[in-house]
Amino acid sequence: MTGDRAPSRSVTVRAAAKINLHLGVGVVRSDGFHPLATVYQAVGLYDDVLVAEADAWLVTVTGADHVALAEVPQDDSNIAVRAGRTLAAHHGLEKAARIEIHKGIPVAGGLAGGSADAAATLLALDRLWSLETSDADLLRIAGELGSDVPFALLGGAATGHGRGELVEPLQDNGVWWWVVVGNDTGLSTPAVYRHFDELTPTELTPTEPTPTEPVEVRDPTIPEALVEALRTGDVDLLAASIGNDLQEPALDLRPDLRRTFSDGAEAGALATLLSGSGPTVLLLCRDAVHAREVAGAMRASGHEHCWPVPAPVAGAHVVSYD
Ligand code: C5P
Repeated sequence: MTGDRAPSRSVTVRAAAKINLHLGVGVVRSDGFHPLATVYQAVGLYDDVLVAEADAWLVTVTGADHVALAEVPQDDSNIAVRAGRTLAAHHGLEKAARIEIHKGIPVAGGLAGGSADAAATLLALDRLWSLETSDADLLRIAGELGSDVPFALLGGAATGHGRGELVEPLQDNGVWWWVVVGNDTGLSTPAVYRHFDELTPTELTPTEPTPTEPVEVRDPTIPEALVEALRTGDVDLLAASIGNDLQEPALDLRPDLRRTFSDGAEAGALATLLSGSGPTVLLLCRDAVHAREVAGAMRASGHEHCWPVPAPVAGAHVVSYD
């Protein structure tokens, strides 16, 4: 035995769902994206992605019962295949792979499940093909694939700027527990951002001509109290400092979600928050025991899909080489 490892035939990477503890949204940019000042946190719901050598790109998707698999493309348009192609092109390679995605993160829920798959695929293929891509390059490629993909690589807690792709790790010393309340009917992210635009007043009056210069209405910022809550692990301060500018637009499109919020408050959550662009609702709890109690109360009031989850958890990481 020389001790040398034979090249792996397959690599499996696990990536977590994200939530936004704060989602500050500015006025739409000329490229159609919105400037963000956000605080991401990775929570304990996961997708697993296995990659293996193959002559052509192939993707299969399986998942837990609560995941609407029919909505996930099983062809080249899947973001995981785009991730694989982009990584191969970055290294000038003509390679392909088989990608098996096993989803535990609800689809179209505002939890960045597709972004988790893209991040997991980047990392898994980097390892399968022994590419040793630098972290900086992986983050940049991730940012090209989607606004939330860099954070899915990073995990933990982080600030996000730009359209969300410019991430910086943030100190999070808390042991947080959330109840994630899923919803059977997904919500389209672009539709929620469009409705945000409709509801957000700009400084323009209807009589003014279209400006040649972009109009700065407000720059979203990150609340100091939230950064302090994460640093100190103070759950009451966290409860008081979370927020999401997409919450009102999403609730306006989906008034049925208001009941989830009121049921959450009645179940004893310390705070309620829309996850990203929704429709998933997050209930902040004091600890693991409290989270189980709140989840039980939510199920009793008819919310079938409730998961007590810890946070922060790790970003994309290898779970097996076979
Ligand atoms: O970057 P990602 O592919 O996740 O974005 C999905 C859609 O969400 C975009 O096409 C855009 O409509 C909207 N979006 C936005 N501003 C952001 C992020 C996303 O308007 N900062």
